[in-house]
Amino acid sequence: MTTLDYNELLGAADRAARAGGDIVRRYFGHLEGVREKSPGDWVSEADLASEQAIRALLTRDSGLPVFGEEAGGDDFDTGWLVDPLDGTSNFVHGFDAVGVSIGLIEDGVPVVGVVHAPLLDRTFCGAKGLGAFRDDRPLRVSTRAPEHGIVATGFPFRHKDLLPRYERALAAALRRFEDLRRAGAASLDLCWTAEGVFDGYFELSLGPWDVAAGGVIVREAGGVVTDWAGDDRAWLRSGNILAAPPAVHAALLDLAAATDR
Ligand code: IPD
Ligand code: CA
Ligand code: CA
Repeated sequence: MTTLDYNELLGAADRAARAGGDIVRRYFGHLEGVREKSPGDWVSEADLASEQAIRALLTRDSGLPVFGEEAGGDDFDTGWLVDPLDGTSNFVHGFDAVGVSIGLIEDGVPVVGVVHAPLLDRTFCGAKGLGAFRDDRPLRVSTRAPEHGIVATGFPFRHKDLLPRYERALAAALRRFEDLRRAGAASLDLCWTAEGVFDGYFELSLGPWDVAAGGVIVREAGGVVTDWAGDDRAWLRSGNILAAPPAVHAALLDLAAATDR
């Protein structure tokens, strides 16, 4: 078994995320080539071109397998999970909160993450044991008390079957925290949680490419990441995620448990 060099792989992910981001930036504001994969699930030429560029660079620089949201790939325990444009609805509507998200999993656990926000001109990164950063600045989750917290979320707009459960969590969260935000890009919701801009984040049924990178970044910034039942591994596959500083995470776990009753 070879040991992965997280520092080197961070460099590879950073180069690839910026290459994808350059493509996303060029397409922003131009709406050609947008189609609906399924209700509310958009894909544009920018998603496809970004993924192609990222895939080529990651393969060249690391030799590890790549799974991308748009072109898929083989299943693996160790390799890259790529969302070439996270926040496609935002992108299509001209809202600049979009991310390019690249996460590396090792034996099924996220260990390296880069989220580049090409239209906001910032890059978040983190690697197991090496810390989390926005550009060169180290990241730390907030220490705000839950009742003063502003917690991010995402609506299950493509999974209406999840609405009853989600609505219970939403109502409980509005009571428990000061306020909520729905910015529309899961990878950035996680990075803003790592940065202490948001005091936590919860969502159901995301893809592993949405959360792998941001999950590492939150953990390395001192946050806790689990699924809605408190499992610290299952969130990657189920996409049911709670990510927050410890006190807000405990409050999120309580309200998530109450949605099952
Ligand atoms: C979506 C965004 C959104 C979340 C969705 C994701 P996409 O990713 O992250 O915030 O609520 O469920 O699928 O489709 O724009 O890459
Ligand atoms: Ca996404
Ligand atoms: Ca996407």
